[in-house]
Amino acid sequence: MDDRHTAADAVRAGLTAARKSLPPFLFYDAEGSRLFDRITELPEYYLTRAEHDIFAAHGDAMVAAAAARAGGPLTVLELGAGSATKTEVLLRALVRRQGRTRFVPADVSPEAVDAAAMRLACTAPELDVRPCVGTHRDAFAMARALDGPVLVLFIGSSIGNYDDGPATELLAEMRGVAGDRGAVLLGTDLRKPLDVLLPAYDDAAGVTAAFNKNVLARINGELGGRFDLDAFRHVALWNDEASSVEMHLESLCAQRVRIDALEMDVAFEAGERIHTESSHKYDDARVARLLEGAGLARLAVYRDDAERFAVHLAGAASTAR
Ligand code: AVJ
Repeated sequence: MDDRHTAADAVRAGLTAARKSLPPFLFYDAEGSRLFDRITELPEYYLTRAEHDIFAAHGDAMVAAAAARAGGPLTVLELGAGSATKTEVLLRALVRRQGRTRFVPADVSPEAVDAAAMRLACTAPELDVRPCVGTHRDAFAMARALDGPVLVLFIGSSIGNYDDGPATELLAEMRGVAGDRGAVLLGTDLRKPLDVLLPAYDDAAGVTAAFNKNVLARINGELGGRFDLDAFRHVALWNDEASSVEMHLESLCAQRVRIDALEMDVAFEAGERIHTESSHKYDDARVARLLEGAGLARLAVYRDDAERFAVHLAGAASTAR
């Protein structure tokens, strides 16, 4: 495993770089996963509702298209499942079609995966839930050990955290895990006016700001950091060249911050930023490029009525018809 995938090494690498950054996976400790669930309920954060609308309207069609290709029971692997609430619509559609269904919710947060497994055991007993706590790599290894075609879910525009190169590599791995008869369901947020995009990442209630700053609280708690959360402010901005909303934490003053477990002091200038996340916003051509680069053929695209969000169903290019 790449060392930068552990919290300590990710923090060391990110905060010693000339342009400071922290990778988004660090957001999702127990508190961060809770804050993210609150984000999905914010009036400004349209993504989750838009995608839910798509699943409600087209879930049966998606499942039918994936099942027709599979020719046998599909296992569902959800990467970054979190509490897996949106997925329930799809899982129910699949259970209606094929009966007992194996579901692997994978996430870095054990609390989120446990909550998903507990809830589904109650509300959808026809599911055979096999939780996976770990990175995407761990999830792929677990899915490879299962037999039969896999429907890989990468929804919520989680792909948006990746630049196009790494996104293509990740999609290629998904294609491999899905198998020739499996499929990938990819959720992508779409480009739209900034008066809609920016509030989704800087809400009036300050939940996104708390989510962003939680990464500093996590460093304090897990690595003996001495970050003063009031000495940083949450910044959301649009990067037009990358077509992404970026989140940063901006130091409000010149300061040095000790991180005991890393035996380091991090110096900040007033106004200096830590880049914590990019959320890429797509148009159709860009998604088509990513899929093609990963050896995936698009089988169908589904959008909500307001065309805020798109869900793409894709399968291995060699067997796509
Ligand atoms: C889970 C990566 C899709 O980028 O919209 C929400 C995370 N960050 N608000 C996104 C997030 C700030 C979210 N993804």
